[in-house]
Amino acid sequence: MKNYTSINDIENINSWIEEAKEIKANPLKNKKLGKNKTLGLLFFNSSLRTRLSTQKAALNLGMDPIVMNVSGDAWGIEFGDGTVMNGNTAEHIKEAAAVVSQYCDVIAVRAFPSLTDKEKDESEQVLNSFVKFASVPIVSMESATGHPLQGLTDAITLAENSTKKKPKVVLSWAPHVKTLPHAVANSFTQAMQKMDVEFVIANPEGYNLSKEITKDTPIYHNQEEAFKDADFVYTKNWSSYDDYGKILEVDSDWMITKNKIGDAKFMHCLPVRRNVVVEDAVLDSDSSLVIEQANNRTFAAQLVLKKILENL
Ligand code: CP
Repeated sequence: MKNYTSINDIENINSWIEEAKEIKANPLKNKKLGKNKTLGLLFFNSSLRTRLSTQKAALNLGMDPIVMNVSGDAWGIEFGDGTVMNGNTAEHIKEAAAVVSQYCDVIAVRAFPSLTDKEKDESEQVLNSFVKFASVPIVSMESATGHPLQGLTDAITLAENSTKKKPKVVLSWAPHVKTLPHAVANSFTQAMQKMDVEFVIANPEGYNLSKEITKDTPIYHNQEEAFKDADFVYTKNWSSYDDYGKILEVDSDWMITKNKIGDAKFMHCLPVRRNVVVEDAVLDSDSSLVIEQANNRTFAAQLVLKKILENL
């Protein structure tokens, strides 16, 4: 594998899950694979889990991680082609990506969307510019439209905790005070579409994800109906896709409660706002898988880096 920028880069999700479980059982087995290889982690946005788990994954493989907060610490990067750079940007991505490629054997990038310009966000300008102008493999640590390391993590966690051959999995929208990206929901949807699960999405009217992502996945606007017989409830807020980046008026209460989900396992990528997205009683119960999901971030990243290192 050259780059990992989308769930679509996974050829066979079941074999990837099995390999991730093997890595989890013996995380230092491939400690020599990454010897003398450097992973550069470039953050245009904040992170706790991705920043630490991806470094941990690199260390488990014997790689040397180096980290930079690009926004603020680096020169402002210009992505436009042919731009007269007489504004705030001081360095073009053509030079920046080529230079970082000399220091790193693999580059991982986190760059969120603007949520104001759908066309620009969907062009994945930052991620795709690194893919185009870097001479080393690129890993997405969450881009404008996807969070494939999270999606892989969620697939692993779900497989580990499933007691049925074909569990029912619900991706449910929940409220939030800020306008949030679609990336996690998109990648989770793409991951579930590759697995042998009964997958449905629950969201209020006006919050359907891109049809390019949901395809023929059933979408419910009635949360209670969607939750019927659910084995897993994966919760995430996202802003409107049709009224791009907006928070809409929603007339019903979509916060996740213990009463609503019953015995279903609860999943969320974190960070999560308690008692806005989900009530304490869910997060503090044995049904919550959120800490195990965060743990599995390391093994998902380790699997991806291992596959890239094997191909260098
Ligand atoms: N889930 C996730 O990506 O967490 P961070 O934003 O803290 O990295």
